Amino acid sequence: MSPPSPVDRSNIRTAVLPVAGFGTRFLPITKAVPKELLPLLDRPLVDYAVAEAAAAGIERVVMVTSHGKDALPDYFAVNPDLERHLEERGKLDLLERMHALSDLVDVVTVRQRDTRGLGHAVLSARAAVGDEAFAVLLADDVIDAPRPVIAQLMDAFSPGRAVVALMDVPRPQTARYGVCAGQWLSPGRLDVQSMVEKPAPADAPSTLAIVGRYILPPEIFDLLEQTPPGAGNEYQLTDAMAALGSVTGVVYQGRRFDAGSLPGWLAANLYYARKRPDLAQALDELLKDL
Ligand code: G1P
Repeated sequence: MSPPSPVDRSNIRTAVLPVAGFGTRFLPITKAVPKELLPLLDRPLVDYAVAEAAAAGIERVVMVTSHGKDALPDYFAVNPDLERHLEERGKLDLLERMHALSDLVDVVTVRQRDTRGLGHAVLSARAAVGDEAFAVLLADDVIDAPRPVIAQLMDAFSPGRAVVALMDVPRPQTARYGVCAGQWLSPGRLDVQSMVEKPAPADAPSTLAIVGRYILPPEIFDLLEQTPPGAGNEYQLTDAMAALGSVTGVVYQGRRFDAGSLPGWLAANLYYARKRPDLAQALDELLKDL
């Protein structure tokens, strides 16, 4: 008999979704509705991120939530009363959709005590993730891609290294993002040598901005514990990755929307409506009429 094979540490099973923020850019609706449950057509923002993770083979999602966000895990949980209702009325197509949703992934919830930045949110997931590499997806960044962007990052992963998604932005926008500079390993693949969170345009080392998709090795957790507060006096994931020192940037293929801003959210709704056969024509007529 052959000896048991060693644990495959390049197999990413878990995704962390930080969903604890206040969503201030969407007040007043976010006073009662978590930002991640705002609709893109008939599915909430968070559904797009979880579907992307599931399509890339992720089996388990750790949601880092906060007070008032319980509706988020509910969205993915089984709802027996609703299922009985649909079954009794013969609405089997809807019933099937509800099953597909709750079967998509296992959702584990971790409550973040205070919202003290992305780095702090990721560190809160430590016990749930365990000692293995994991993905992080920010639900605000909605990306329509030929291959899930998180899978594009997995292709570039090797143990001990972090992988981040990159896009080129106009220089005046650098202060909204983490920004990376380094050496090209191959077209679209960067060996990151420096990274800065939200630099002023004059100080940015390049115009390659981090988009909300990451693969992180478990070594990041100790670094997150040691990293002091950075930009905005928050614990920044970018600073912990800079301390890790081994980071690959991947200029992903796909179209990204910043659904965490009102114009970006509106654009994403129009974009996805135009892709839907049952809505495209109605949308075109409506836009002509407006
Ligand atoms: C976070 C990260 C930043 C990244 C951005 C992508 O910032 O800290 O490095 O560029 O997401 O959306 P936030 O938008 O949460 O301020």
